Amino acid sequence: MRMITSGESHGPALVTILEGLPAGLALDQGIINHELARRQRGIGAGPRMRIEQDEARILGGVMGGVTTGAPLAILIPNRDHKKWQGKAVEPLTVPRPGHADLATAIKYGYRDLRPGLERASARETAARVAAGAVCKHLLSQFGMIVGGYVTAVGEISVNVGEMPYSERIARAEANAVRCPDPVSENAIDALIRQAITGKDTLGGIIEVLALEVPAGLGSNSQWDQRLDARLGAAVLSIQSVKGIELGSAFENAHIPGTHAHDPIRLESANGELIRPTDRSGGLEGGITTGQPLIVRAALKPIATTLTPQNSVDLATGLEVPTGYERSDFCHVPRAVPVVEAMVALVLAEALLEKLGGDSMADLLLRYKTLRRARLSDLPMDGTPHVFWPAGGSQ
Ligand SMILES: Cc1cc2nc3c(=O)[nH]c(=O)nc-3n(C[C@H](O)[C@H](O)[C@H](O)COP(=O)(O)O)c2cc1C
Repeated sequence: MRMITSGESHGPALVTILEGLPAGLALDQGIINHELARRQRGIGAGPRMRIEQDEARILGGVMGGVTTGAPLAILIPNRDHKKWQGKAVEPLTVPRPGHADLATAIKYGYRDLRPGLERASARETAARVAAGAVCKHLLSQFGMIVGGYVTAVGEISVNVGEMPYSERIARAEANAVRCPDPVSENAIDALIRQAITGKDTLGGIIEVLALEVPAGLGSNSQWDQRLDARLGAAVLSIQSVKGIELGSAFENAHIPGTHAHDPIRLESANGELIRPTDRSGGLEGGITTGQPLIVRAALKPIATTLTPQNSVDLATGLEVPTGYERSDFCHVPRAVPVVEAMVALVLAEALLEKLGGDSMADLLLRYKTLRRARLSDLPMDGTPHVFWPAGGSQ
């Protein structure tokens, strides 16, 4: 499976192509619009969120409400575009520290910073969320759920304690901070409002879970097939994400091995191999363990600040303060569906690799044959083997 996107922040539209979907998946634009609306909700969003009201149009890959197996093409018009049509725009020559303005101008030799920021802009995440909606919908046909929530904004960390995973997802969805804990929700809400009035911006941490994931997705036979590596690349590709953590990775680095790993136990009733903890985040050796996937993304604060920052006017060579472009103050709550989308994309791709099959009927049939984490499914008899014969030749 492969996703590519095209389009500028204020251009006519965004386009997503999703290649490799199986045939026979019932799909309509309502499924995509639902996720697009989720991306537009959340405290800390800039005024553009009220203008956009994204609506997707499926242009290819679906006939009669069902995927055909051909590439899926999704169009999301930019409602804001009409304001820019035919309008002469003042050149932008003062790059914002932390945004892609200077880097793209150096790389491409732009005479105006606008082309760089138009494509770097996280408006592009709408196209990713559209593809992610389709991937989430595909995964749900196999009982998998991908959902997320905010675990930190600025200096406030959310303590979710022992709250069940599905409850965290449901609670977060019910508030504008996307926070599962009501005490932290209020504190974060106040902190974001304070940042807005203080003309500053905030970053934070998002946790995304994938539940009911079967064991055995991904591979460790090559570096680029490891699911941990693929999740890392996908999540780090999101604008402003600068760190990723799987399970309790950073905490594990500080404690002894006897405390860092997830013990393996045998459930005597059904012979299932269970893991009472999930410090690995559902991945060992780049392969899913059958435990929930736990992916955390660290987002830096928004680069566009109402309070000017130090920069240089590239047209005059003078040191000047940055200007302001309409912008989010804290994008963390509304970035939750974006991280979910990238996790769903990687997971859907791994599922299709595992099951093969060109149609949903093939996939659902093969899904039943997936190995469970059961002792009886493992064909081990304890006999010794000679893996490398003496003399070196195989
Ligand atoms: C959902 C979302 C919304 C964002 N909104 C803004 C914004 O309004 N203003 C801004 O300066 N950056 C915003 N960003 C971050 C920038 O797109 C990002 O910092 C920039 O493209 C440079 O890329 P980098 O931070 O990955 O280096 C947003 C990111 C996400 C994920």
